[in-house]
Amino acid sequence: MHVSVIGAGYVGLVTAACLADVGNVVLCVDIDAEKVDRLNRSEIPIHEPGLEQVVERNAAAGRLRFSTSYDDAVSHAALILIAVGTPSGEDGSADLSHVITCATELGKRIERDSLIVVKSTVPVGTNDEVRAALRSQVAARQRPIRVTTASNPEFLKEGFAVEDFMKPDRIIIGVDDAQSAEVMKQLYAPFNRNRDRLVVMDVRSAEFTKYAANCMLAVRISFMNEMANLADRLGVDIENVRHGIGSDPRIGPHFLYAGAGFGGSCFPKDLRALAHTAAENDEPVAILSAAMEVNQRQHRILATKISRFFDDDLTGRTIALWGLAFKANTDDMREAPSLSVINALTAAGAKVRAYDPVAITNARSIIKANNNVQFTDSANTALDGADVLAVITEWLEFRSPDFADLARKLKAKAIFDGRNLYDPSAVRAAGLQYFGIGRGS
Ligand SMILES: NC(=O)c1ccc[n+]([C@@H]2O[C@H](COP(=O)([O-])OP(=O)(O)OC[C@H]3O[C@@H](n4cnc5c(N)ncnc54)[C@H](O)[C@@H]3O)[C@@H](O)[C@H]2O)c1
Repeated sequence: MHVSVIGAGYVGLVTAACLADVGNVVLCVDIDAEKVDRLNRSEIPIHEPGLEQVVERNAAAGRLRFSTSYDDAVSHAALILIAVGTPSGEDGSADLSHVITCATELGKRIERDSLIVVKSTVPVGTNDEVRAALRSQVAARQRPIRVTTASNPEFLKEGFAVEDFMKPDRIIIGVDDAQSAEVMKQLYAPFNRNRDRLVVMDVRSAEFTKYAANCMLAVRISFMNEMANLADRLGVDIENVRHGIGSDPRIGPHFLYAGAGFGGSCFPKDLRALAHTAAENDEPVAILSAAMEVNQRQHRILATKISRFFDDDLTGRTIALWGLAFKANTDDMREAPSLSVINALTAAGAKVRAYDPVAITNARSIIKANNNVQFTDSANTALDGADVLAVITEWLEFRSPDFADLARKLKAKAIFDGRNLYDPSAVRAAGLQYFGIGRGS
């Protein structure tokens, strides 16, 4: 099939590359000319395992091209996927301006019957707005063509995006007509061979499904974080509790990890957007506000623990920090807990020496105004002159450090483990103090 994808970010680029990889001829359009130039040289602007190879081989085969032109997008395909950002507006609602701009620009140019698919995460009712924007532009030009829309929210996880797209747990299709359903089934047939992963529903339900899924996951994390904080007070190890409850099939083992809070481009903004929708519809969802509040507190928890360790005086202290990205396997720094920890520590007079395997460039551009932060080029050099170590991101290379070496290097001999990566007794045996999240300390 010929497909155009609008937006070359985490979702758009992965979608375009993976659709090309199964034989489609894909044009990916983005307004960011520098990004498009880099992509046309097969330079990948984000860190996403496996993506570079998929882009390279499909570009070389002539199945994947990048452009800044909406004219190209509409002339290339009658099936167009919108995957642009929907960041938080000032009031917490999803800012739909990019999505509506896409619809308007496409509507100005479409010359044949087309299906426009909204892949971005958007509130219930957005497809109606997109359809109206498209159709009003088409009507203004008096073109006798039929433009329909469909909802196809994306569920990929950053860090596993290619794998998730190629082997999805489910594919949600929201359609209001049989013809669009058929096109979407055809598009996803290559990803749907060994079992039926398609869940076809009406458009509004599909839009809502995405928010409900992300909010459920975020609530689960905040629940575990609150349990962990209580576990700390009670002398309980939340890791034992996690194993204990995760073995119940009604609960399951995933997304039960206590830690320094969730971040990234999705959970925080999607919680805010659904809470906004709920309030607007006079049906407030209390659990969403609670999950957000807990998460804000959790973002500061490592800094609070470190400050308490130093009797609330961080002046002149140096904290080594391992991990900046909001989670492992990505360079995404959007709403990363590391940012809150760094702010709190440096505001209290500490210096931070921070290392991340891939996110330093992004982190530098966000934290540039803070002279109390130094970025280092290895986990080891982050320890130079440090009093204590804080681990924020669960990168593989942080999983099994030499604790005896850490004990020699850290002046105040303590580890603050924001992802519960370590066995407290192994850390203590090396002569270090250990502080995790809900480890009963
Ligand atoms: N990142 C994720 O893990 C993830 C997962 C599932 C769903 N989503 C959703 O997918 C959407 C995209 O997220 P993302 O993380 O890929 O965003 P992103 O910020 O990485 O990428 C968005 C891209 O859209 C481009 N863009 C903006 N306006 C445009 C326009 N008018 N025309 C063409 N290009 C335009 C930007 O230049 C950027 O390259 C969001 O709604 C998000 O909630 C994201």
